[in-house]
Amino acid sequence: MIEKLIRKNILQFQPYIPGKPIAEVKRELGLKRVIKLASNENPLGPSLKALQAVKKALNSVFLYPEGSGILLKRKIAKKLALRPSNIILGNGSDELIEIIGKTFLDPGDEIIVSADGFIRYKMAGDLMCCGVIAVPSKDHKHDLAGMKAAITPKTKVIFIINPNNPTGTYVSERELVEFFQGLREDIIVVFDEAYYEYATQKDYPQTLDYLRKGKNVIILRTFSKIYALAGLRVGYGLAGEELISYLERVRPPFNVNSLAQVAAEVSLDDKQQIKRSLALVEKEKKKLYRELDKLSITYIPSAANFVLIDLKREAGEISKKLLASGVIVRPMGEYKLPTCIRVTIGLPAENNRFVSALRKLL
Ligand SMILES: Cc1ncc(COP(=O)(O)O)c(C=O)c1O
Repeated sequence: MIEKLIRKNILQFQPYIPGKPIAEVKRELGLKRVIKLASNENPLGPSLKALQAVKKALNSVFLYPEGSGILLKRKIAKKLALRPSNIILGNGSDELIEIIGKTFLDPGDEIIVSADGFIRYKMAGDLMCCGVIAVPSKDHKHDLAGMKAAITPKTKVIFIINPNNPTGTYVSERELVEFFQGLREDIIVVFDEAYYEYATQKDYPQTLDYLRKGKNVIILRTFSKIYALAGLRVGYGLAGEELISYLERVRPPFNVNSLAQVAAEVSLDDKQQIKRSLALVEKEKKKLYRELDKLSITYIPSAANFVLIDLKREAGEISKKLLASGVIVRPMGEYKLPTCIRVTIGLPAENNRFVSALRKLL
């Protein structure tokens, strides 16, 4: 009976499976010491100055937040030499993915994604009854030539996740230049740069240049990853003023709470927090590679704060065993990579614990 009331595409829709929270694992398995390396969070935590500002702002939570988030927008605009009207704020960048879907996609339109790409884009297309063309990746990288070849007259949006989650790979400036050559002007290219701050490679593209040149691009970034504010939920989108004005029509009022706005604003000033976090990831990632090499385990070198590891055997069972030993990682069945797990770079002791738990299991 209820089934008849549900929109047809929602009947097939599968919910997103997030990384298991520490408290749930402790409760379910009766464990005392649990570490989470499953959601690409930053274990060093946020800027202390941001936390102090949040404490101060607590007194004002009886008031609605500043609906447009203008102070935060001004801060981001200044940092990136843009205008506040080039910016939209989201309840995490995740909300912006859905807002993009709601703003641009009619039933029958098509979007193009990478088959190994972050699954929320496919979900946004499915939600809007839109055709989702998932182009197989090449060596776990977005196959930009393949994605371009998949364009049809129905194509409206192409999503490029850079660096990509869950593979950690990135597309280079040169590849992007080629991709934009002859690309139809009425197609919107969305760059998801949730891990932007971790991608320090020289040939990693600066997509703001494309925005400045007037291309139809939307760049999504977040305070959830290196800024370590995942629990407060704040991300932002950058685009031309006209594009932003349409996205703003769809954005729910007060979508970013006042504590998140304050924390994000102050975080932008704390260069030390970013420096420390980058240094930790760089050092610990290399250590993890060395340990995996010793165990002859295959992994994909990553431009982000996580590593995709191919165990060459059913990874669901191993993930469960790791969980039983108090280490939460992400099995990749959802991404049709059933032999892989994705592991976030944690604190040194956490990474050691993961390696020794894995060693015991293998
Ligand atoms: C590639 C990518 N984009 C977007 C998000 C969403 O992040 P948030 O909504 O916390 O900004 C994530 C989170 O894991 C991600 O990996």
